[in-house]
Amino acid sequence: MTEAADSRTEHDVVAVVDFGGQYAHLIATKVRRQGVLAEIRQPDDPLEAFAPYRGIIISGSPSLASSGEDSNYTKAIYDLDVPILGLCFGHQEIAQHYGGDVVHGGRQWGRADLHLIGDHPLFAGLDSVEPVWMSHYDSVVSLGPEFTELGYSKTVDGAADHRFAAIGSDSLRRYGLQFHPEVDDTVHGDRMLSNFVVDICGCTASWSMDGYVDQQVAHIGAQVGDRSVFLLASGGVDSTVAAVLLGRALGPERLHLLHIDNGLMRLDESRQVLQQLNELGIDDNLSFVDASDVFLTALAGIVEPEDKRRVIGDTFIQVFNAKAERLGVGGLMLGQGTIYPDTIETGASKRADTIKTHHNRVPIVEQMIAAGQVIEPLVELYKTEVRELGERLGVPHDLVWRHPFPGPGLGVRLLCSDGHSDALTLATLASPLREIGDRFGLEALALPIRSVGVKADLRAYEHPVILSGAASWEDLTAATSQICAEVEGINRCIWNLGPDAPLGARPLAATVTRERLETLRRADHLVMESLRRHDLYDNVWQCPTVLVPLQLDYGDGRAGELVVVRPVDSQRAMTARPVELGAAVLDELRRDVLAIPGVSGLALDTTSKPPGTIEWE
Ligand code: XMP
Repeated sequence: MTEAADSRTEHDVVAVVDFGGQYAHLIATKVRRQGVLAEIRQPDDPLEAFAPYRGIIISGSPSLASSGEDSNYTKAIYDLDVPILGLCFGHQEIAQHYGGDVVHGGRQWGRADLHLIGDHPLFAGLDSVEPVWMSHYDSVVSLGPEFTELGYSKTVDGAADHRFAAIGSDSLRRYGLQFHPEVDDTVHGDRMLSNFVVDICGCTASWSMDGYVDQQVAHIGAQVGDRSVFLLASGGVDSTVAAVLLGRALGPERLHLLHIDNGLMRLDESRQVLQQLNELGIDDNLSFVDASDVFLTALAGIVEPEDKRRVIGDTFIQVFNAKAERLGVGGLMLGQGTIYPDTIETGASKRADTIKTHHNRVPIVEQMIAAGQVIEPLVELYKTEVRELGERLGVPHDLVWRHPFPGPGLGVRLLCSDGHSDALTLATLASPLREIGDRFGLEALALPIRSVGVKADLRAYEHPVILSGAASWEDLTAATSQICAEVEGINRCIWNLGPDAPLGARPLAATVTRERLETLRRADHLVMESLRRHDLYDNVWQCPTVLVPLQLDYGDGRAGELVVVRPVDSQRAMTARPVELGAAVLDELRRDVLAIPGVSGLALDTTSKPPGTIEWE
């Protein structure tokens, strides 16, 4: 059982089996709005992982049930004596599992009308015709012996019928909906989800954000007793909201905050963080350590991303421990702003674990958790809910809606290199790249550096490609997808924003230095300011600016590194889409970023996740 599930025994919980990114997240969020906790589980989680739940919802998927794609999941869940609801792909899987047939065909996309056949508790309180949202290629065409058709659908113009839009077996307590009740276009989808989790699964709708605040305030008081809490305040959304909640529960005098400047922060960031904590009125026991020298000394000469992460993580603990000892607060509880996705082995974090461990779950912290010395008041929440909670607690808008920023800070956005080039490997890519580039009128050049990506469920360091030339956003993203899919060894494309197409590229030997960090900080600041000026900041999930130690050859002797801007849209960082910034922003960036000393190239990342990750290392 997950630790999160352990801590939730006071609420009924259902599992959402995640067959495809944002679907599962949205389902979990919508279920929670009905007052019932929902946790995301992975399709291959062991059967025991499903034991704490009062019901299971199987999500939609980009895979095809008709061809058996994605069919290797923990099917033993069908033996559990809890209600199961399948949505879209999940609906087809349930139909097939119990003897029905699914074929490739009958595609529907968009609004349709669900026509209910008789009354059923799943649709209690609804009309006999309900607007729903369809998005599928496969269709259920027959049912097993224990199932009945609960509804069929018609296109909005009434032209075509689609059988088996809703199916169910009350004896088995298995149900399926071909449409998506979790999207807003299914007007009464919330009611259907509520009917399932409350009436059919028998969950008590006991969860609400207001209730959560009251419950956490009581819970923190009981867990901490007469001790105090020591919390590392990075200035990010999670640790700030956790600090405000702890301050409310314990009073600011029992909350010790430590902000560490690790030298990897953004421009002027530490000063702003200290000021914000002051404005929030939780700075009674606020300490600040400028540990940038310690961090940069520890990072000197290191090139490998994994080594950098480890050194940064270890140095945090050292600085934290030294400060705690000096303050004589060794016996205090450790507070952390850990949120729910940080604790679970989701697909992305499973992959990520081969490269990085979440800093809130390093071994020393695990030991402290086991000894009851850690308090994590946000551990039940997703990012969107932390933001909702922050707003309820009066945390200012700008802080609540700050972009996520990785624990190792600019350390993972300052690429390093030993200067070695695999020119031979890259030479073999020239011809397939030219062929795809020609389809879009773009020049494509593979770069002699590696960045991280996700391919075939594994993290891999592969080469980026720089695309040069004028093209529409659709063509740029299409060229990117085709290159990453068709050319081996490439996981990312960037679009050259410089005035000329580079003739070649050579890696520069570079490590973590103050000078390079200063260059990156200036570029990052210009990007953030430009997003804010053009009202794009709140529409972008995250926008890393990356300094890449590459000398692009423009044939005119210009010297300096390459800056890459990576704006993405995402729901919870598991998948992401590149965001188009518009000509005005790009013109500003060309003018300002290319004027920074030490920078001679500028490009925009046009890759989705997968195959690229959000960060570059
Ligand atoms: P990727 O790069 O895996 O990032 O697509 C997904 C999300 O995680 C953040 N990230 C990190 N956060 N420590 C953190 O606290 C890290 O080492 C780390 N690496 C990536 C990233 O910014 C994005 O939001």
